[in-house]
Amino acid sequence: MKIIEAGDYDDLSRKSAGIVLAQVKAKPSSLLVLPTGNTPLGLFRELVKAAKSGAANFGQVAFVTLDEYADIASDDRRRLSSWLSRELLTPLGIAADAFHAFDPRGNPGAEAERIEGVIAARGGIDLAVLGLGPNGHLGFNEPGSPFDSRTRLVSLTPESIRSNAAYWGGEVDVPSTAYTLGLGTINECRSVVLVVSGARKAGILARTLNDAVSINVPATLFRVHPSSIVIADRDALAFAG
Ligand code: PGA
Repeated sequence: MKIIEAGDYDDLSRKSAGIVLAQVKAKPSSLLVLPTGNTPLGLFRELVKAAKSGAANFGQVAFVTLDEYADIASDDRRRLSSWLSRELLTPLGIAADAFHAFDPRGNPGAEAERIEGVIAARGGIDLAVLGLGPNGHLGFNEPGSPFDSRTRLVSLTPESIRSNAAYWGGEVDVPSTAYTLGLGTINECRSVVLVVSGARKAGILARTLNDAVSINVPATLFRVHPSSIVIADRDALAFAG
């Protein structure tokens, strides 16, 4: 595991974009996973800037969604894949058939298998950039998720429901189940990058870096992955030791 310290949020965004751009340059047909949430917005801005200026070419890149709420309308604006399209894929000019998203109305078992099949057919995920949940989750792999878990439907923890309530109008409106790439699926990505920003993540980042590797903090998976990078700003690294 390599740790990269960024001075502030903008620096974090530039440095994490640099990793994604290097991947796309090295392998133009990369299969990528990028996270939703607040943390990656600066990274997305940098990627769009690079594509618009001609410094990067995403023409052959394909994407798989990390996670998605289940049992919502396919055209719900709060669908995570719709959010990712708005914030990144449409501005990057990614074709619809290069974006593999969970269908929130699909049959859960079949949908999880379909996404695993897409990943296998494309020869595996080259790079996954992930955010760090306040409880250490990766995607919707909540504490307790086995390290060898595959892509599946999961129940959200009360903590994740609370942290997503703002997007849904209230806790009761947050869907109770979601799809996520499994921790085993994430572990098979050729490279994984964790982007972490701000003082409110300092406690859970310190646990990710220092606690025993265990399913109690899913992000400790980064400590056993053979090619992992944690990139965090100074505020997030405050308690890292
Ligand atoms: P955030 O979300 O980037 O909005 O903090 C991270 C996560 O919960 O995975």
